[in-house]
Amino acid sequence: MYISIKSLSQSLFFCALFSIVIGYQESHARTKGCASCSAEKTSRKSKHSRYRKQALKFQSSAVAAVMDDLYRGANGSIISPAESDFIKAKGGNSTYGEITPSALTALLQQLSITKKDVLYDLGSGTGKVVMQSYLEFPFKKVVGIELSAQRYKEAQRALAGLKSRGFVDKKRSISFIQGDIVETPYTDATVVYLCSTCFSDDLMTKLAEKFSRLKKGARIVTLKQIPHPNKYRLQLIHECRQAMSWSTPEGSPVYIYKKTK
Ligand SMILES: C[S@@+](CC[C@H](N)C(=O)[O-])C[C@H]1O[C@@H](n2cnc3c(N)ncnc32)[C@H](O)[C@@H]1O
Repeated sequence: MYISIKSLSQSLFFCALFSIVIGYQESHARTKGCASCSAEKTSRKSKHSRYRKQALKFQSSAVAAVMDDLYRGANGSIISPAESDFIKAKGGNSTYGEITPSALTALLQQLSITKKDVLYDLGSGTGKVVMQSYLEFPFKKVVGIELSAQRYKEAQRALAGLKSRGFVDKKRSISFIQGDIVETPYTDATVVYLCSTCFSDDLMTKLAEKFSRLKKGARIVTLKQIPHPNKYRLQLIHECRQAMSWSTPEGSPVYIYKKTK
């Protein structure tokens, strides 16, 4: 009885938290130049930005708690030698790494995500990018595509946990596909993320061809530069360094491209 009341109150707490935060982000995105942003008075502006910072900090720590719970015991690094060979043959690498939660938050904040956005993580591993993006930003749809059966299984296990805790919003979808990122379609993507540090040049070229079929305005966040971006109507719009699970204190390079036509 105690446990069910405790988990019920936890669910209610997080549902309320997510509606507040997502509601806040949506209204902020809708009203770029909203009453307070375009406000006449500086004091009002700084109050707004203080409130925003506090809301985002609170949100990130709440999401981190849910993520820790969902991924307890998960380890994407351990896969069978057969799977490892299969991934290498497809242009990937057996070395596993992940973006850090704070780096993902920073990158997605920069993209001003709205409820019209659709995210695909190409090579989603155990699904943490997809899961965190869904919990922290108002994406309409988030999808992870992963070749490794074992990592895909971990992602599905975490998704089942998310559903059982009542954190899935019926108006927004979250899913994982076990498949090859070269063969699986994702033409509805408005944001594509790829932790591509270990992707072969040949795989990057195949992906660039696929990116040329994305919608105008789609953003691609990649850890390896896209070869000959102009050829694929892609423009480099931002370059920075962010912390990855393997990176040194100065972080690893991240490139953001935009589909121009
Ligand atoms: C470095 S991990 C990134 C995990 C996750 N996206 C993150 O950033 O936290 C890259 C993943 O890409 C997957 N991968 C490599 N080549 C692939 C391919 N052709 N199709 C689908 N997944 C692939 C690997 O199995 C691995 O799990």
